[in-house]
Amino acid sequence: MSGAEGGSTAAEGIDQRVEFAGIALRNPVLTASGTFGYGTEFAPFLDLGSIGGFVAKSLTLEPRFGNPPPRIAETPAGMLNAISIENVGVEAFLDEKLPALPEATVVLASAFGTDPGAYAELAARVSEHPRIAGIEINASCPHVKSGGIEFGQDPVLLAELVRAVRAATARPLIVKLSPNVTRIADMARVCEAEGADGVSLINAVQAMEVDVERRRPVLSNVLGGLSGPAIRPIALRMVWQVAQAVGIPICGVGGITGAEDAVKFMLCGASAIQVGTLNYLDPSAAGRIATGIAEYARRQGFERVADLTGALEAPRG
Ligand SMILES: Cc1cc2nc3c(=O)[nH]c(=O)nc-3n(C[C@H](O)[C@H](O)[C@H](O)COP(=O)(O)O)c2cc1C
Repeated sequence: MSGAEGGSTAAEGIDQRVEFAGIALRNPVLTASGTFGYGTEFAPFLDLGSIGGFVAKSLTLEPRFGNPPPRIAETPAGMLNAISIENVGVEAFLDEKLPALPEATVVLASAFGTDPGAYAELAARVSEHPRIAGIEINASCPHVKSGGIEFGQDPVLLAELVRAVRAATARPLIVKLSPNVTRIADMARVCEAEGADGVSLINAVQAMEVDVERRRPVLSNVLGGLSGPAIRPIALRMVWQVAQAVGIPICGVGGITGAEDAVKFMLCGASAIQVGTLNYLDPSAAGRIATGIAEYARRQGFERVADLTGALEAPRG
């Protein structure tokens, strides 16, 4: 196992530790790529030691600017974004951002590229750094012109991508799946067959909004990704379907607003969860969610938070 070796087992006698894709986490709560910066931005708001770890903003080999504004919009029960993969580039991340984080923080890098070779090169580069506990492949960004979602929507391209990255790294490898597909379980099966250690789902749902007075799309990019509570039932459905289809562990993402939502993902089969859009609304929420999950486990008579995974009962009737 790599990553943090456990940490607190407390929260009133409940063992909060989980293992996800070969990474030991002190609790199942991660923060989602693109919603938690490079970690240090959130240090004034929450103890980084109170969460299991975080997935850094998706990286490219070179620094990259995002789309021009407007690139964010509020929607009913959600948020639309077309930031694109704006990031400092892999070298600045490894040289400047990573060293600024506390030693005990579990950091997953998120890899992005326009072709499998670029993803693989990035994965190889971050794997050289001892602080990287795992690599999440972003095969699902819904609003970049090339890369991302193309891979996440085509099983043949996805297989090629996972194979290339798998060959480039021995670190825990997680594939972040796109919800913008007909059969998510098929995509997860492809990842498992190509040697991924886990899958994360879901990325944002491709969406758009219109300004009627201006008769224009709200976002300069026209298309964006919908996130927040609006997508949670979709994400839950997909996690449940993937859990029936594969044996590799799942990280549940999408519209989590509190511990109860996080528990829903675990009951549907997730070993860990990621908090995304909520970080913008309440930058300290993720730490409280970890405690809330442990409290739920105690109330329900579980001794270990890990035992919540897949503990959904059959429907009545
Ligand atoms: C502003 C913003 C930027 C994001 N950037 C990334 C990114 O760089 N890489 C990635 O894999 N996902 C990115 N995401 C998707 C989130 O990680 C997450 O999968 C999605 O928002 C669903 O979770 P949520 O509803 O809890 O936000 C981004 C989401 C938002 C809102």
